Amino acid sequence: IASLLNPQPGHSQHSSIITADASAAPCITVNGFVRSVRKQKRVAFAAVGDGSSLQTIQAVLSPEQAENLSTGVAVAITGQWTPSPGQGQTHELVTKGIRILGGNDAASSPLQKKYQTSEYLRTLPHLRSRLPFNALLLRLRSQVIAQMTQHFSNLDFVQVHPPLITSSDCEGAGEVFTVSPDAKSPPNCIADGQAASKDQFFQAPKYLTVSSQLHLEAFAQSVNKVWTLSPTFRAEKSDTPRHLSEFYMLEAELTFVEDMAEVMDVVEDMLRAIARHLQSSYVGQELLQARRKKSEPHDGDTISEAGLAQRWQGLVDGPWPRIEYNEAIVYLMDAVAQGEVCFDFPPDHAEGLQTEHERFLAEKLGRGGPVFVINYPQSMKPFYMAPSKTADGDTRQPTVACFDLLVPEICELVGGSMREHRLAELVQAMDERGLRHSMSGQLDGQMSDGPLEWYLDLRRYGSVPHGGFGLGFDRLLCYLSGVSNIKDVLALEAPSRALP
Ligand code: 4AD
Ligand code: MG
Repeated sequence: IASLLNPQPGHSQHSSIITADASAAPCITVNGFVRSVRKQKRVAFAAVGDGSSLQTIQAVLSPEQAENLSTGVAVAITGQWTPSPGQGQTHELVTKGIRILGGNDAASSPLQKKYQTSEYLRTLPHLRSRLPFNALLLRLRSQVIAQMTQHFSNLDFVQVHPPLITSSDCEGAGEVFTVSPDAKSPPNCIADGQAASKDQFFQAPKYLTVSSQLHLEAFAQSVNKVWTLSPTFRAEKSDTPRHLSEFYMLEAELTFVEDMAEVMDVVEDMLRAIARHLQSSYVGQELLQARRKKSEPHDGDTISEAGLAQRWQGLVDGPWPRIEYNEAIVYLMDAVAQGEVCFDFPPDHAEGLQTEHERFLAEKLGRGGPVFVINYPQSMKPFYMAPSKTADGDTRQPTVACFDLLVPEICELVGGSMREHRLAELVQAMDERGLRHSMSGQLDGQMSDGPLEWYLDLRRYGSVPHGGFGLGFDRLLCYLSGVSNIKDVLALEAPSRALP
């Protein structure tokens, strides 16, 4: 339907379009779902959609052809694509033949034509993507992946597939899900000093990955620049519109890089390329159109068409401000002192940035667009980050060379850093956090090498300065589409209980 309504050069025409005679209106077959049907005495009109566009096409039918049609029924309609005398469409499909491919029990269908809340629709993940706006979000997801792939390929990054079941907790935040297929063995039994039983599936504790970064560091040292878009899992305690327990993270790692600005440039250029493409694409036009006249309910979304267009332009415009963590705290304190803003949590250097602070920084410093906050205190960040450097290249304790990219509404979209590539310093950072050794059951409770020994090998056997970042892909989709709750941009697990 998109190719019918919006024929573009190079846009492949639907395979079911058959032009029998060039002078006549083309005879085509449209496969889709009836969105609504209007039956009159001598003629009937059906609006048919297929997920490729927010729009529907109008099929003109005889009362007999329309007899078994109702909302939600799947059909294949063959007819002539003819200029329409009616209002609201340039062409319509004058039906020659119709096949009903699948019926719909409209009365009991959980998807009703009336207004349904986002919260209710979240209970129908297997059905809600049929709604035109949710179908559009699936197309956005696919388009952004295509753009990222193209962008990284142009820059000679190698796409890699890191493991998802790992033995380490990269972020050290204790948010791992333990994989324990053997129900009899408690998770972490080896780490807790018990011997692994013979029939245990894994002989050491295994977790679902919280970040592929450590593995990307290994790959990057082999092929220089790598990226991945991988599922990521976090046993998140925060139930917010920005947190998920399963999400996709885009991660990239670059070797032979000494200046963190190069890593931030990669983030900035990639997001700029994606926004630019969106501005000229059909998906982009439809996202704006959806905000003009909200075609689907997404309660909580407040963005207007102009607001969304401005958001994309904010990504295209640059360069984005880069501000030190220390300066950001001072900026927030000044804003409070001048009565410009009132926070629930007063800004405090030692407490870190709260979501409300991040939001304010993006709105004010980023002028409604992105802003990088760099060089956070070491105590707030994971073990692998390298110390910050002063202007003359000396290391500067106790801050680390890291950055968060903040955007309005979503707040933290990207986190990245330079990695500690020196062996002795990394060993020290791990020792300070008790990450190097674990209790070994087989050795009667003695200490043995921990699961990150391989990570130290990367420093033992030819280490180079490097850095990288991770971007919350589902958060990015929220930002690009104006959807305010992350639960509405992805497929949640289908419910196991009976539907209402
Ligand atoms: O800031 P994070 O925790 O950084 C890392 O994991 C690094 N090891 C990445 C790297 O350098 N390769 O996570 C990166 C991004 C965050 O900025 C956020 O956008 C997203 O991942 N994210 C989440 N998105 C949805 N739900 C959650 N629970 C998320 N936790 C992080
Ligand atoms: Mg982070």
